[in-house]
Amino acid sequence: MTKVLAINGSARMEKGYTKRLLNAFLEGMKEAGAAIELVYAKRLKIRPCLGDFQCWFEKVGECIQADDMQDLYVKLRESDIFVLAIPVYLPLPGEIQNLLNRLMPIVEPVLEFRDGRTRARFHDDVRISKIVLVSVGGWWEKENMDSVVRIVEGIAKDVGVEFSGPVIRPHAFVMDREKDKSEEILDAARRAGAQLVREGRMSAETLDIISQPLVSEEDLRDEYNKMYRKAKGTTH
Ligand SMILES: Cc1cc2nc3c(=O)[nH]c(=O)nc-3n(C[C@H](O)[C@H](O)[C@H](O)COP(=O)(O)O)c2cc1C
Repeated sequence: MTKVLAINGSARMEKGYTKRLLNAFLEGMKEAGAAIELVYAKRLKIRPCLGDFQCWFEKVGECIQADDMQDLYVKLRESDIFVLAIPVYLPLPGEIQNLLNRLMPIVEPVLEFRDGRTRARFHDDVRISKIVLVSVGGWWEKENMDSVVRIVEGIAKDVGVEFSGPVIRPHAFVMDREKDKSEEILDAARRAGAQLVREGRMSAETLDIISQPLVSEEDLRDEYNKMYRKAKGTTH
C-alpha cells in the first residue's frame, strides 16, 4: 500500500484554504488506496537547524535535537509520497522553513554532479520516491507561486526523487463566492490525488482546472486596493 505523509504548513491551519485544497487532494489519494498521515507543521515543536553538520559528519543520519522532528523522521522514512502543502508567504511560512532545513539528517552526504548541479540523495532507509507541492496564494496569477515551486522542486532534485508537480490554487479566497467553480476545483484536486496514486502522475488538464482564474486580474487588484483604502479611511 502506498504510504503518504502530508504536511500542512498553513499558519491558519483548519481555517485556511490550504486545508481545503490539501484535504480534497488527500481524499483522492485515499480513495485510490493510499494510507494517509496528515500533520500540521504549526502544531509541532520544530527548532531551527543548528547548522553544524553533525547529522552529516559526526552522528551520521541523526539529529541531536530532541523535538517533534524525531517522530517526523520515522514517518518520513516510511513514506512513499511526501506532500508539502505550503501557502505562498514571500516565500514560505516560518514553520515550514524550519522543517525543510531539518530534512538534512535523512539526506546522505555523498555529493555527485547531476543535471549540472551538486546533488545528493536520501539515505537508503528513506522510502520517499515522490514529492508533491500543494500551494495556495492570495494574488491573481499562478506565477506568484514560482518561488515556492522552485524551492520544493529544487529539494526533490537535490535528494534525487521525482517532483510530481505543483497543485496550485491562486486567489484561493475567491472560491468562497464561486461555489460551483469551487466544487469543480476541489473535485479536480480529488482526481489529481487519485491519479498520482493510481497512475504515478497527475494530468495537465486536471492541474489546469485547479489553477483556473476565477476573476479578472484587474477586478481582483481593485478589490484589494479598495480593502486597503477602506482600512486607511481614504478614497484614493
Ligand atoms: C506574509 C504573507 C505573505 C504573502 N505573500 C503572498 C504572495 O507573495 N503571493 C500570493 O499570491 N499570496 C501571498 N499571500 C497570501 C496567502 O498565500 C493567502 O492568504 C493564502 O490563502 C494563505 O493560506 P491559508 O489560506 O491556508 O492561510 C501572503 C500572505 C502572507 C500572510
